[in-house]
Amino acid sequence: MAHHPVDDLNPTDNEHFQDVLAQASVSRRHLIRGGVGLAALGTVPFLAACGGGDAAPSPAPTEAALGFNAVAKSLLDEVKLPAGYTYSVVHATGDRLVSSVPAYSNTGAELDAWEQRVGDHHDGMDLFYVDASGRYSRTATARAVLAVNHESSADSHFWHTKGQTSGGVNGKKFSQFNGWDLLPRPELEVLKEINHHGVSIAEVRKGGDGKWIYTVDAPLNRRVNGQTVMRIAGPAAHLSDIKAFMATAYDPSGATSRGTLNNCGHGKTPWGTYLACEENWAAYFFMPAGSVDVDAKTKASRQRYGVIRAPFAGTGNAGSQGWSSVSTTDNRFTRFNVSAPGATAADDFRQEPNTFGYIVEIDPLNPNTQPAKRVAMGRFAHEAAVCGIPVVGQPLAFYMGCDSQNEYVYKFVSTALWSEADIGGGMVAGDKYLNEGKLYVAKFKADGTGEWIELNFANPLISGYANYSFDNQADVLVNARLAADAVGATKMDRPEWGAVNPKNGEVYFTMTNNSSRTVAGTDAANPRAYLDNDGKGRSGNPNGHIIRLKETGAVNATATGFRWDIFLFGAEEDAGAGINLSGLSAKNDFSSPDGLWFSPSTGICWIQTDDGNYTDATNCMLLAAIPGSVGDGASVTVNNSLGGNTASQQTFIGAALGDAKLRRFLVGPKGCEVTGITETADGKTLFVNIQHPGENTPAIANAADFTFESQWPSNAGYGPGSRPRSATIAISRTDGGVIGL
Ligand code: FEO
Ligand code: CA
Ligand code: CA
Repeated sequence: MAHHPVDDLNPTDNEHFQDVLAQASVSRRHLIRGGVGLAALGTVPFLAACGGGDAAPSPAPTEAALGFNAVAKSLLDEVKLPAGYTYSVVHATGDRLVSSVPAYSNTGAELDAWEQRVGDHHDGMDLFYVDASGRYSRTATARAVLAVNHESSADSHFWHTKGQTSGGVNGKKFSQFNGWDLLPRPELEVLKEINHHGVSIAEVRKGGDGKWIYTVDAPLNRRVNGQTVMRIAGPAAHLSDIKAFMATAYDPSGATSRGTLNNCGHGKTPWGTYLACEENWAAYFFMPAGSVDVDAKTKASRQRYGVIRAPFAGTGNAGSQGWSSVSTTDNRFTRFNVSAPGATAADDFRQEPNTFGYIVEIDPLNPNTQPAKRVAMGRFAHEAAVCGIPVVGQPLAFYMGCDSQNEYVYKFVSTALWSEADIGGGMVAGDKYLNEGKLYVAKFKADGTGEWIELNFANPLISGYANYSFDNQADVLVNARLAADAVGATKMDRPEWGAVNPKNGEVYFTMTNNSSRTVAGTDAANPRAYLDNDGKGRSGNPNGHIIRLKETGAVNATATGFRWDIFLFGAEEDAGAGINLSGLSAKNDFSSPDGLWFSPSTGICWIQTDDGNYTDATNCMLLAAIPGSVGDGASVTVNNSLGGNTASQQTFIGAALGDAKLRRFLVGPKGCEVTGITETADGKTLFVNIQHPGENTPAIANAADFTFESQWPSNAGYGPGSRPRSATIAISRTDGGVIGL
């Protein structure tokens, strides 16, 4: 999708080898649809096939069947829901949080003030109840705030009058300009683009008509954005080394940094704070041609994170929005120019990229507290962070994906033991649990087991790594991707959201898709390589899958081993049994799973898609599933065929759900991604984000207006103008019942 410009930066040969396939030379008519074969489904008991581990049976699911009729696939510019369900918009891109700025025009005419408006690209979100004393409450109260991530400015052309401008030419997305000779960009546009990022926090309530709305001017309304000052936080023993990586001309001490960018999925802590995860931040940095270059080690780090891909200086570095071009002196903009003209790193912004790529903790109930970048949880393209089931007296575990093709799954385990006395403890509790701990990366093995490998400088594989010379543990945390390379982590098919099943603690992760997966490059945990030959012609693992794991050991959080299987494979319903391994039907077929969340009130596993591969047949969607548990399925052999190569790959698949336990619940409007989901404590209102409707709207000529791919939500009666807007919607049942069952 448009907001993933830095995919596939992993050069290692961990787990699978990157065969270069001349896929263009493969004639589609020589490939038989569904020709990839499936053998032995259901014939090999899963547990018998697993080596070692804990074979105790998992609890059986007890939920009732799904209580709605499946929604058909749709290409309409509407939000489609099952009969008996309705929705309304809570807030959309540009809505004001304070009455001192004008109501949103939806024409692009706004002056900055975006730090007082709801940002764009609504993504991960969560709801926080407030008790009478203003502290976080786990149970429902009359007062709540909704915190929403704003992921990307990829569609900021909609909030400028004539699209984005560069060198006085406008009408396009910046990425559509032909080269960098058109720079500079105007200050006002860039300020809007920087300031829309981050998190919006708004008090929400049920209005008199029963519809959920946000409250303008509510005391807890707040924006954390691309310029908000944050504290660099990390393990005490390594904090001075960490700060050395963060020193810039803005704060030579490295104690603080400015802003959070590209907040994608999120997390909610057991003590009631919000975790905003920094995902595709790397693309905003730029180094003009002729700049003073950085040292070789910094260059190697940048290469691995996608900060200014080679060539390191010069034109044509796609992805950036040209923010650094606004000024040569104003460091609100020069911080995105990462050349090294100064005497030391503290004299310029060469280290500014080191200040992004973290889990950012925000206390949504205390607007005056400073957010913290939790360096102990590692630096990568953080998709989301989901906490395991908290157990009093045991450490907490947070599971995290790194969203790019062939990246890894991580786990952070706190040193501190969970105490419910910390509920409502805000940033002080965050300092207790999120600074000291161990960071692990996952290795998925062919026998259905897996291993968490600690990323510790004491490991000779890390301290002696040939491809990058780590200095210390701070270097390991700041360059966690490289440390994970060093220990041989498993390269996954683009890890997106994680979710924890509240019934049994099992951990689910979406693997959205991977266009670079080859037949020779498959492994048991990423077992498919095929071609979608009747639609958009995408290959690799274009439809993605959802993997799940069960920790092995007495304490889930500290387990260093697990068992895994693949919960679901995305596929088109008619793709053939060898690709459609989960037996999806017209009622539940999907592609590119991304958002993932378990409802604590119903136990439903909600699956959201961010797809560009099945969009010839349907817009992106939300599905409901009633899962079993790891090991309830079978060992299977996938016979892969792609690009003239064939090979079989053994894997483990969960029990088929069928239409009774997996159904499509929602289909979004044109060009959107469906992402971000939470609910009220009674399970009767489901909040869902519709991100970037109309993202395929073409560029405009100077004098024209857009030819919109989508005009949602204005076409559904929300707000002025006709430009498409990301939005949070609230879904309820017309009979007032619980959602989904
Ligand atoms: Fe922001 Fe991973 O999608
Ligand atoms: Ca297709
Ligand atoms: Ca996502």
